[in-house]
Parts: sequence; structure tokens; C-alpha cells
Amino acid sequence: MNQMNLFEPAKLAGVLMNNRILRAATDEGMADANGNPTERLIKLYENLAKGGVGGMITGYMGISKEGESQMPGMVMIDSDERIMPLSKVVERVHQLNTPIVAQIAHCGRNGVAGKRFLVNKISEETIQKVIEDFTAATVRAYKAGYDAVELHLAHGYFLSEMVSPHTNKRKDKWGGTTDNRMRIVKEIMMRIRKELPNYPIFVKINGSEDYKDGIHEEELVRMGKILEEIGVRAIEVSCGIDWKAMGPSKGTVPTDMILSKYPGISTLPSPLKAIMKPILPKMMKETEATKKYNVPAAKKLKENVQIPVIVVGGIHDLADVESTILEDGIDFVSMSRPLILEPGLVNKFKKQKAQKAKCLSCNYCLIGLYNDSLRCYYGKCPKQ
Ligand SMILES: Cc1cc2nc3c(=O)[nH]c(=O)nc-3n(C[C@H](O)[C@H](O)[C@H](O)COP(=O)(O)O)c2cc1C
Repeated sequence: MNQMNLFEPAKLAGVLMNNRILRAATDEGMADANGNPTERLIKLYENLAKGGVGGMITGYMGISKEGESQMPGMVMIDSDERIMPLSKVVERVHQLNTPIVAQIAHCGRNGVAGKRFLVNKISEETIQKVIEDFTAATVRAYKAGYDAVELHLAHGYFLSEMVSPHTNKRKDKWGGTTDNRMRIVKEIMMRIRKELPNYPIFVKINGSEDYKDGIHEEELVRMGKILEEIGVRAIEVSCGIDWKAMGPSKGTVPTDMILSKYPGISTLPSPLKAIMKPILPKMMKETEATKKYNVPAAKKLKENVQIPVIVVGGIHDLADVESTILEDGIDFVSMSRPLILEPGLVNKFKKQKAQKAKCLSCNYCLIGLYNDSLRCYYGKCPKQ
């Protein structure tokens, strides 16, 4: 493969992407009070399309009320009435000749349901409802015209906790062996396939977790083979379950933003916050803004499955994109944080107007979502 191919159209599970650089799922927090998409959200997608992304994966959309995010403004795909407003989003993105993939999620204990949704405690009935909700949401996404669906199996949300050996300690048929932990995904895929035999389904999964008993490369390979067998058409490799979103998005810990905006912390008395300030980066295992941190796991997976592999995480500069695709042999890359500040980054790369992303990996964007919709803070905490 030569360098030209990076910016040429390429098929991903039957979906013709405009190039090999995708926008990774990024919660936009831009739904209206009823969970429907807004003009602002559509404009954000239009800017990404105009900015040259090969295709885009939406921020996670909620499959059910219980699965909703704690962060405001989640787009919901939990009833058939959602199909019409969502189809307008798709139509506008398609007018700009850019594919759009719907990421769907149940936030589990990290969402509004909190402790009512612990993977080790929930009933068989609840599991069956989740399976039905994922299936119904997929059918809605199909009807709204999304080019594919991505099931969110990463970052500690509900399906992530079901498939991870670190979090799933169930003793029944839903826990234990890899097959048992993956059973829920298998059931969802079986139901989807009955309704939509050929609709492309992707998954986003953790390739590594910072726990000895968590997912690691060998387990990822086992899971990848099962996913392929059950008809998943592409796998996006991410990482991380601890500290919610900080796991997947390596880089500096936005300490001042956490102290002033994070639920449960922002309301603590000032002296306590002063004590926490120097400790937080250590507690949250601050890392360098590491590059390509999921590529080793993605490479291992790629060696063991036939379906395309996408990799996300610290692939921000043109050199990272090039080496991941051309040298490491991964099919597609996706990026999240760099495109918040620079939705036109892919065109800048393509036209050789930039080699590097401006993103600082400061992660203020993540904490900002607890109070506001998505934006780049560029390392500056807004005043109260
Ligand atoms: C503000 C923000 C929101 C995110 N929302 C989602 C999401 O809705 N679904 C998801 O799978 N990942 C989400 N992520 C994780 C990213 O998709 C990505 O895996 C991670 O940020 C690493 O990629 P990057 O280095 O290109 O930012 C989010 C990340 C950020 C920074």
C-alpha cells in the first residue's frame, strides 16, 4: 500500500469511506431536552464532513431510558419516534457525501441508573431487555439511514462490563469463560441478524485494561474471533475502564476542571479540594500524551481476524496516521479529540497544510461534558 491510498476512498465492511481517517465516537451532548438531535449537532457533523473525515461515528446514543448517560444532551434512539428526527441528521451528512455510523450504548452503572445497574447483580429479565433494546435501536438506526451501527463494548459501559473479566464475576451462563461473557453480544447479533441479515455492525472494544484480570491481548484475540464468527463486520480497538473516560483518553489530568466541574467533587469544601489538587493526577495515573497507545493490541487482533480493524487513541499527527496504516497494517484509524478543535484536520493533512494536530490532550473536553455540550477548552478552565 502506498501513501496515496490513505486519502483515497476505501470500503469498510461494505461502506465506502472517503478515506481511511474516521471521526471516532465523541459524545457531543447536543441533544435537546427530549433527547432529539439539534441543528447545532447537525452543523458539527457537517463541519466534520466538510473537513474531510473519511466517515464519522456518532457520539454514543442511548438505547433506553435506563441506559442514558449522566452527562446532559445525549441523543436517544430509544423509541420509533426517534427515527424521523435522526433521519434528518443522516440526510444532511449524506448530502455532503460522507458516511455516518450510529454508535449505540447502554451506560450501565456509569449512567443515570447508577447502582441499579451492576453487571453482577442484574436479573436475567433485565439482561433480556438490554438485548431487545440494542436490537430495536439497531433497527431504528437502519431505518433512519445510518450506514452502519457500532455497538459500544468499551470504556466501562454496560456491555463493556459484561464482556470484561475484570468486572463480570457472574457465576451463571453470562459470566466466567470468554464465550459466556460474550454471550450477550452473540444474542444481540442473532436478533439483529434475524431482522437485518446484511446491515453492517461494528463494535468498539477494549484491547487493554489496566487490571491484571482485565482484557489483554490474548483475551482480545479470543473475543475478536468470536465477534467475527457471530457476524460483526469491523472491530475498533480502544482501551480503559477506570476513571470512566480518562482510561480511554490518555494525556494530562484536567485537575482544575475536575475540582470545579466534576459531579460530587465540585461541591466539596475548598480545604478538601486543596488537599486533592496534588493527589488527583497520581490517583488518575496521569500519563504523557502517549501516541498510538492501542496500536499494539490492534496489530495483534489484526493478525488473528479477517474482518477490518480500526484503531483509536493518540493517533493525532499525520505521521501517526501514516505509520499505523502503512507500516502497522491497520485498516482504518479514528480520532476524537483532535477533531473537536480542528474539524478540518483531515483536509489539512491531505492538502499538506498541517502535519500535526493542535490538540493538547488536556482532556478538559471530557470533564466539560458534565455541564455543557462538547467544545475544546485548550487547557483553560472556564470561570464559574
Ligand atoms: C469528549 C470526549 C467524548 C467521548 N465520547 C465517546 C463516545 O461517545 N463513545 C466512545 O466510544 N468513545 C468516546 N470517547 C473516546 C474517544 O472516542 C477515543 O476513544 C479517545 O478519546 C481516544 O482517542 P483520541 O486520542 O483520538 O482522542 C470520547 C472522548 C472524548 C475526549
